[in-house]
Amino acid sequence: MSSSADFYNIPSSPSQSPRPGQKKGRRKREREKVFWYQKKGAKGIVGLICLVGFFFIFNGFMVLRLQRDDEISGNKDVSVRNSSSISVSIKGELKTIGKGKRQRKGTYDRMLALAAHSLAENKREPKDLWQELFVPASAWRPCADHRNWNHSEGNNGYILVTANGGMNQQRVAVCNAVVIARLLNSTLVIPRFMYSSVWRDVSQFSDIYQEEHFINYLTPDIRIVKELPKELQSLDLEAIGSVVTDADIGKESKPSFYLKNILPILLKNRVVHFVGFGNRLAFDPIPFQLQTLRCRCNFHALQFSPKIQETGALLIQRLRKNAAHAGPLDHHLIGPYAEKNLQEKVGHAVKASRYLAVHLRFEIDMLAHSLCEYGGGEEERKELEAYREIHFPALTLLKKTNKLPSPAMLREEGLCPLTPEEAVLMLAALGFSRKTHIFIAGANIYGGRSRLTALTSLYPNLVTKEKLLSATELEPFMNFSSQLAALDFIACTASDAFAMTDSGSQLSSLVSGFRIYYGGGKMPTIRPNKRRLADIFRKNNSIEWKIFEQRVRKAVRQTKHVLQRPKARSVYRYPRCKECMCLTE
Ligand SMILES: *[C@@H]1O[C@H](CO)[C@@H](O)[C@H](O)[C@H]1NC(C)=O
Ligand SMILES: *[C@@H]1O[C@H](CO)[C@@H](O)[C@H](O)[C@H]1NC(C)=O
Ligand SMILES: *[C@@H]1O[C@H](CO)[C@@H](O)[C@H](O)[C@H]1NC(C)=O
Ligand SMILES: *[C@@H]1O[C@H](CO)[C@@H](O)[C@H](O)[C@H]1NC(C)=O
Ligand SMILES: *[C@@H]1O[C@H](CO)[C@@H](O)[C@H](O)[C@H]1NC(C)=O
Repeated sequence: MSSSADFYNIPSSPSQSPRPGQKKGRRKREREKVFWYQKKGAKGIVGLICLVGFFFIFNGFMVLRLQRDDEISGNKDVSVRNSSSISVSIKGELKTIGKGKRQRKGTYDRMLALAAHSLAENKREPKDLWQELFVPASAWRPCADHRNWNHSEGNNGYILVTANGGMNQQRVAVCNAVVIARLLNSTLVIPRFMYSSVWRDVSQFSDIYQEEHFINYLTPDIRIVKELPKELQSLDLEAIGSVVTDADIGKESKPSFYLKNILPILLKNRVVHFVGFGNRLAFDPIPFQLQTLRCRCNFHALQFSPKIQETGALLIQRLRKNAAHAGPLDHHLIGPYAEKNLQEKVGHAVKASRYLAVHLRFEIDMLAHSLCEYGGGEEERKELEAYREIHFPALTLLKKTNKLPSPAMLREEGLCPLTPEEAVLMLAALGFSRKTHIFIAGANIYGGRSRLTALTSLYPNLVTKEKLLSATELEPFMNFSSQLAALDFIACTASDAFAMTDSGSQLSSLVSGFRIYYGGGKMPTIRPNKRRLADIFRKNNSIEWKIFEQRVRKAVRQTKHVLQRPKARSVYRYPRCKECMCLTE
C-alpha cells in the first residue's frame, strides 16, 4: 500500500506501484531504505553496548513516527461500516475482527468510575473550555486571497497529477501541484485521484470539489485546463520518461529540485505526470508568494461539491439542534447552504446548542502501525500483526530484524493513539459536562461498538454521521469513502470545540488549520500531548480525580496555544504565518 506507507514514512512493498516498468528500480530503492534502517541499527549495536544501539534505533523509529503524516483518518473510517463488528477484506476474504468479546485489561475501570462520579455532580464547566486561550490569535486575519503577482501564461507545458491516499492527503497534493505549476510556469490539468483497492473509492476531483470554482479562482495565478490537449494525449508518457513517481522525488523536496529535474522534462516533452505526489514539496524555504498560493488553494480554491455541501449543511443543522446562528466558517465549508440553514430557522427561536467534535483515531490501520498494545491480549496482537504483514510489510520486516521499542515503552513515550477510554477520561477531566453534545468522526472503531461503551455511558449525547443522517440521506455517499470523509471534515471543522486523539492524523491536522484560518481565534482545538497524558495515566490505580483533573488540564492547556507556524511545518496545519494570514492591530 504505497500511499499509506508514505503517510507513515515507512518503506513499503511496491505492490501498488502504478508503473510496472519501474517496479524493479523502486523495489531496489525500497530495499535500500530498509537496509539503511538495518545498518543504522547494526552500527549502534556493534559500535557500542546494546543499550546505546537500542536508543539509536529507538530514536530513528521516533523520527519516523514524528514525521508520519497519516491520511487514512480521512477515509478509513468508512471503508467498512458495520456497527456490530469491523470487517476488513484481507486478501479477498472477509475476515471479521474485534467482536468486542475479548477480555481487556487496562481499561481504566477505576478511573471511569471516578469520572462518572464527577460528571454526576454536574459541576459548572471551566470558563475557558470552549475558547481558544491564546488571546492575540484574534489579531490574525485570513489574507491568502491577496495576490501580488501577474497571471502566468503557463507556457512551459502541462502538469498532470494523480494523487494517492485518501481525501486529505489528496487535498495537500493538489495544492502542492498548484504551486509546482506556478513555479514552472506550466499549465495544470485538473488533478486526478488514484483508485486504491483499500479505500475502493472511485471519486474524482469533481465528485469532491467544485471544478469551475477551482479553475476560476486560481486563474490569476495559474492556467488550469480540464484535459491534456489532443496532440499530447496520444503520447506514451512512460516511454518518453514523463512519468514521475514518489520514488523519483525526495520527500519535501525544495523548489530548486523541480527547477533542476522536472523543468527539463517539461521543456523537452511538454508534459510531466506526477503519480502519488504525497508530501513532495517542502514547506521551507519557499518563496513568499508561492507559499501564499498554497494557502489560497487550500483555504479558498477548494470548495466541496454541492452534493457534499448540502448534506454537510444537514449535519451541521442537526448538530446545532437547529440553532439560529451560523458558525464563523460555515460559509467556507458549505457555501450557499449556510444561509439556507439560517433561513429555515426563522420562527423557531431555539436555544443555541454547541457541540464538541472528536476525531477518535482508533482504527485498525492506525493501531497496527503504532506497534502498541491496547489491552486485547493475544487475539489483538495476532490481528494487528496480520494487518501489518499485509499493509505495512516493511514495518513487519523492521520488527523482525531489529529490536524495536516495546509496546510499554511506546506508550510511555506518548506514541500510541489515545484509546476511547483515554479520550473520554481526558474530556471528563477537562470539564466537559455530561450533557455535552459530542460528534464522533472516524466511526470505524477497532473493537466495534462495545469499545465505545465508556464514551457513550459517560456522554449519552454522542452521535456520528450515521446517526444524524437517514439511510436515504447517506445512501449517495455509501461507496465513496472520500466523500464520507468530507462530511466528517465539515462536521469537525464547524464544531464549537474540536478534540483530536492523534496529532499525526491528516484529517485532524487539516481541520485544525481551517479552524485557525477562519476561526478568528474563537475555535479551539484540543490537541493532547500524549506523552504527558501517558505519564498521568500510569498512575491510574491510585491517582485522585482532583489531581488527575488538574494534571490533564495543565497538559492540554500547553498545547492549546496556537502560536505562529514553526519553521518547516505545514501551512495547512499552522496557517498563522505572514504568507497566509495578516496581523491587524
Ligand atoms: C454486519 O456484520 C454482520 C456479521 O459480520 C453481518 O451479518 C451483517 O450483515 C453486517 N451488517 C451490515 C449492515 O453490513
Ligand atoms: C504586472 O505586469 C505589469 C505590466 O506588465 C507590470 O507593470 C507590473 O509590475 C507587474 N506586477 C507584478 C507584481 O509583477
Ligand atoms: C516563469 O516566468 C517568470 C516571469 O515571466 C520568469 O521570471 C521565470 O524565470 C519563469 N520561470 C520558469 C521556470 O520558466
Ligand atoms: C456499492 O458497491 C457495490 C459493489 O460495487 C454494489 O454492489 C452496491 O450496490 C453499492 N452500494 C451502494 C449503496 O451504492
Ligand atoms: C494503570 O495502572 C497500573 C498500576 O499502577 C499500571 O501498571 C499501568 O501501566 C497503568 N496503565 C497505563 C495504561 O498506564
